[in-house]
Amino acid sequence: MGLKPATNPEVEAKPIELTIDGRSVSASDGVSLYDVISSTGKIVPAMCYHYTFDPFGSCGMCLVMVEGKKAPVRSCTAKAAAGMIVRTEGDDLFQARKKAVEKHLSVHPLDCPVCDADGHCELQDMAFQHQVTNLANAKQKLIPEDTRSLVLDFNMNRCIACGECINVCKDVLMIDALQFMKKGGFNQVVAKGDQPLSCEFCGDCLAVCPVGAITNKFSKYLYKPWQLKKTTTTCNYCGDGCQMHIETKDREVVRVTSPLSWKNKWGDRSETAKGHGGICVRGRFGFEYIDSKARLHHPLMRRDGQLVEAPWLEAVHSVVDRLVDIKAKHGSDAIAGLITARCTNEELYLFQKLMRVAIGTNQVDSSARYGHINFVKAAQHAVGVGRTMNDWEDLTKAKAILVVGSNLTETNPLTSVRVKDAIRIYKAQVIVVDSAQTNLARLASHPMMVKPGSEGIFVHGLVKSVIEQDLIDTVATEKHPKAFAALKDAVEKLSFESITAATGITLQQIHETAAIFAEAPRAIILCAEGIVRRSGGYEKILSLMDLAWITGKLGRPGCGVSTVTEEINEQGAVDMGAAPEFLPGQAAFNDVAARDRFAKAWGAELPATGKGATLTEILKRCRNGQVKALYVLGENPLGTLPKSMGVQAALEGLELLVCQDLFLTETARLAHVVLPACTYAEKEGTFTNLEGKVLRIRPTMDPIGESLPDWHIMTAIASGLGCQLDYESPHDIQREIMKLLPGYYNLGQPRKPTPNPDVYLSNGYSAEVKTRYQSEAATTPHAARPFALALGQVLYHSGKLSTHAPGLITIAPNTGRLHMNVKDMERLGLTDGAKVRVTTAQGKLDMSVQADLAMLPGSCFFPEHFNEPPVKDLMDVEIDRHTGVPYFKLTSAAIQKV
Ligand code: SF4
Ligand code: SF4
Ligand code: SF4
Ligand code: FES
Repeated sequence: MGLKPATNPEVEAKPIELTIDGRSVSASDGVSLYDVISSTGKIVPAMCYHYTFDPFGSCGMCLVMVEGKKAPVRSCTAKAAAGMIVRTEGDDLFQARKKAVEKHLSVHPLDCPVCDADGHCELQDMAFQHQVTNLANAKQKLIPEDTRSLVLDFNMNRCIACGECINVCKDVLMIDALQFMKKGGFNQVVAKGDQPLSCEFCGDCLAVCPVGAITNKFSKYLYKPWQLKKTTTTCNYCGDGCQMHIETKDREVVRVTSPLSWKNKWGDRSETAKGHGGICVRGRFGFEYIDSKARLHHPLMRRDGQLVEAPWLEAVHSVVDRLVDIKAKHGSDAIAGLITARCTNEELYLFQKLMRVAIGTNQVDSSARYGHINFVKAAQHAVGVGRTMNDWEDLTKAKAILVVGSNLTETNPLTSVRVKDAIRIYKAQVIVVDSAQTNLARLASHPMMVKPGSEGIFVHGLVKSVIEQDLIDTVATEKHPKAFAALKDAVEKLSFESITAATGITLQQIHETAAIFAEAPRAIILCAEGIVRRSGGYEKILSLMDLAWITGKLGRPGCGVSTVTEEINEQGAVDMGAAPEFLPGQAAFNDVAARDRFAKAWGAELPATGKGATLTEILKRCRNGQVKALYVLGENPLGTLPKSMGVQAALEGLELLVCQDLFLTETARLAHVVLPACTYAEKEGTFTNLEGKVLRIRPTMDPIGESLPDWHIMTAIASGLGCQLDYESPHDIQREIMKLLPGYYNLGQPRKPTPNPDVYLSNGYSAEVKTRYQSEAATTPHAARPFALALGQVLYHSGKLSTHAPGLITIAPNTGRLHMNVKDMERLGLTDGAKVRVTTAQGKLDMSVQADLAMLPGSCFFPEHFNEPPVKDLMDVEIDRHTGVPYFKLTSAAIQKV
């Protein structure tokens, strides 16, 4: 089925008039007649239709009469045409639709009592609506259930062959994992090639299946739909911040569903530019950590070297007393705090306030320091906007997207679906610059497979190419002639020979992609982990800003430089001031006016400037004895950072280590006091997603055991420290934030920032740009350790949190294997499971290997979610001199067969 013209902004569909049930209706020529009818508010029954993908026309329910046609027509596959006279109601149509329902029911098992879709089944609804009362003659297909998949079961006795599952997978997700296959005399849905299903396991097929033919393995037979309490909330894994429904029965989470469903099938495809309502495998099947048996149920205190259960009062008193004592003896700066960006905005705000006001230190940081802060600081420095510039709609409707250093499908699967939409519906040119054959690279018009770590050099090549090919936007550059001259001068010194040698990309490809980006009317740069978490990340982002500036993409609608975040609330962490350089609202910590404002609002002096510390600086101060107490909220530096950073020594030397967490993490095991916190499913608050939308989370169940929401615990500690915070709920904190940051709570609307590089380009840019381009040209590969060893994320996990979700571990267990390129394995005489010795500057490790088609020759990969074997300890660490971000995701390694 062809593209619906109305959804493509590049296609000028002719406006037409037609008549529906006697009413004149305007529409675009060639769109589905069904869409036109539903746009008038009429709901015609439709079982195989869904607005998110192209019509299929199999169920025979959407029948209408079109003047001039003898028989009813299927309105979903019929195209609207000028002058059409359409009737949607009448006994003849009712009977025809009823016949279609009867036909489906004639081979249906009617095992409603044990079907998960009972009470939530479109076939049931249609039978009822069309008064189908004689069900006695239904035949059985007697097809054995296909339970080979890890998460989905296929009961083809119930299938009505509507094709929705196949179509959503193919059209929307561009995965195409399913097909119809004639088996046993019936058209059955099978995984491609009739193999056990191996796919992204997003579960969107399950969501759109109108009957109970696809079922969720983890919740099958556990509920009847009416027993479930459904709470709409925001996923807490990645920065996409998808909306989802957590469904609970009694005190147990039974399943997670999403706004995408067969029940929600009427809409305009162009609306999917903002999101199609689906969720990914982590959101749908990664919920079991919420009520995991491994959750902390009680506070723990260290006694005789052991962590033992203790009452809340005693644990909090102990924390407070020891903090008071340390502060009295050594001053406020003997205390520091780290918080996870999976906390809510309200908790992040409260944490920095607790550290700055109740304790009096600016040694406070969050997990945004692992990379996102690079983007925030670079974007704030260059264009005055400390966040991503584009929302999902911009991305979907872009004509060119430059994806640099991002395995988007693995890290932010739903943002990746937007790029897929841009490719399929809007025919965008997508340039993927990466050192792995990512899923998006396979779909992109211009996959640029660069040598590991050379993404930044490729960007320099683009900047140079734009200038040399005279593709610059003169309106943008003529405003800042000095800055442009400095940039020109800087890139002139780079040679294309060294760029092509360092990246492995030909000059022709560099010129071609530079032209595509520069000439596109709407072009977006999307950079992620391969930039923000790798050496020189801050400066590389500034080079991307250069590219956007000289091509006129800063400030123009639908253009910009954006990023994605791996943890849900990394943007919120920075916005709320959980970083030593920022007060809430990203006001500089040393800005006198801002300090005054917050000091007044909080009724307290702020800590002195110049004494704050970032994550790595805090750990260093722990090691050298300056910091004696560390409050770690949801963070796990010991489990995350390489051994060479001396985290263990830093923590072991503390007089007081307080860990507030869901689980007994590596860091918590060293703590003096462990405080059990709640998951996002047990508390209220908001997250700020990568589009800048502030999204609500709502409690779906009571806290597990004696665990408490983080805000509640912090309020108690602050009170104990003599800082009376009268918060009775997160709403009280929200009200305070609203007063201080008017407009921050934007009710789920993406923010539209206005990037402006004028200040940056006229102040010190010329000197800065000179050093930036010089430093990058010097990168050379390591001769003795020729492999690029990368740590990174896989689709089925998010940080270490998801490893507590059995569903996700079933799909993606820790194999402990190093992923390698097939040719490299052949060259070294290795087969899957063979043992190798991996040697880096930090040490060596014996482990087994597995072939991975995404790996380019010379690179290998290990999922960062697992520490067994401890590959992280092999990684070199470098600290960004501008932002304090610790880079440890890419290292050179030697690999030998053992
Ligand atoms: S789970 Fe997702 S990827 Fe897998 S078949 Fe279903 S729709 Fe396709
Ligand atoms: S499995 Fe469900 S969605 Fe797929 S064709 Fe059958 S009834 Fe339709
Ligand atoms: S992990 Fe990210 S993409 Fe997946 S459901 Fe959650 S927020 Fe959405
Ligand atoms: S909705 Fe048109 S044939 Fe199924």
